[in-house]
Amino acid sequence: MEDKIRVRATSAEYDVIIGSGILSDCGKIAKEVLKDQVKILLVSDTNVAPLYLDKVKASLEEAGMETYDFIFAAGEQSKNIDSISGMWDVMAKEGFTRSDAVLALGGGVAGDMAGFAAATFLRGIRVIQVPTSLLAMVDSAIGGKTGIDLPRAKNQVGAFLQPSVVIEDTDCLKTLSPELFTEGMGEVIKYAFIMDLPLYGRLKALADSGDAMGLSGKSEELEEIIKACVRDKADVIASDEFDSGRRQILNFGHTAGHVIESLSNYSLMHGVCVAKGMAVFTEAALAAGLMDQEERDKIIDLIRAFGLPVTDDTPSEKLVAGAMNDKKKRGSTLSLIFVNKIGSAEIVKMTSAEYLEFLSKRGI
Ligand code: GLY
Repeated sequence: MEDKIRVRATSAEYDVIIGSGILSDCGKIAKEVLKDQVKILLVSDTNVAPLYLDKVKASLEEAGMETYDFIFAAGEQSKNIDSISGMWDVMAKEGFTRSDAVLALGGGVAGDMAGFAAATFLRGIRVIQVPTSLLAMVDSAIGGKTGIDLPRAKNQVGAFLQPSVVIEDTDCLKTLSPELFTEGMGEVIKYAFIMDLPLYGRLKALADSGDAMGLSGKSEELEEIIKACVRDKADVIASDEFDSGRRQILNFGHTAGHVIESLSNYSLMHGVCVAKGMAVFTEAALAAGLMDQEERDKIIDLIRAFGLPVTDDTPSEKLVAGAMNDKKKRGSTLSLIFVNKIGSAEIVKMTSAEYLEFLSKRGI
């Protein structure tokens, strides 16, 4: 049974449709939201395309759409202007107009790039997000952030473009590698920490019963957890689509995490780096006396229970230097996200000197 969660952003409203086996309904759903007879550029990567591209294409063509595809080498290294230029090229060559659309089939990289190509081609055409990874289903496919990386920092060039619809077929998670599943849990756990005590309770119960690592095989439980995260994200987007306030709480773990990810030359996965970033802030908050030992243990224990790292030895100076490229920096001030009590987050502005002093409390 599929379920729909409505995202009410300021610039657009749309559904996130979640269910098992709904990939073959892509054509019907796309036709409902796009209305006209359209050309669709499918953007996918070399891991996902062999698994699902034919199915999605067939469904779209059956619904009367003309399909084209752009397949890029899987991995964050592809998230650059050359890939976008390749997408623009196909659309220009095939005579795409403003009534046509792009469809992202894959994880966060496919979604961010397809969205950016759509946001920029002809100054903006429509995009449909079809996330196939846990991370993309709970976070990146929703909310309209699109973009590419620059060598100096992740996601440094981009645009906002809300999707016309998000189609989440939970069956796709069955083919996800354990590593990709675990990295997605980094973002799932983040929602529990920043805003969702019931989700924390659910995840803690799994951890306490020794079932945390078996979650990928429990499809009903997993679907409920995904829906909780999507509801959380929809709630945040409804109050701050353009990241000028509350939406920044979604960046818990990301300020340090993005730097760790970029220093690893993207060899470490995003969700893994978010987990490290959450742990870095938690340890520093404990050392700074902003958090008590019991709360620190609850955060660290949950991250660890889902197979994610809880330590990082990147020197504080490097974490601060890297954060200077962060999009949340305004002038010389950084907006940092703190969770000092599970279930709520706080945005704190700090200068680079204050941030360095805070991180250095860890003794690294
Ligand atoms: N991934 C964080 C956001 O969408 O704001």
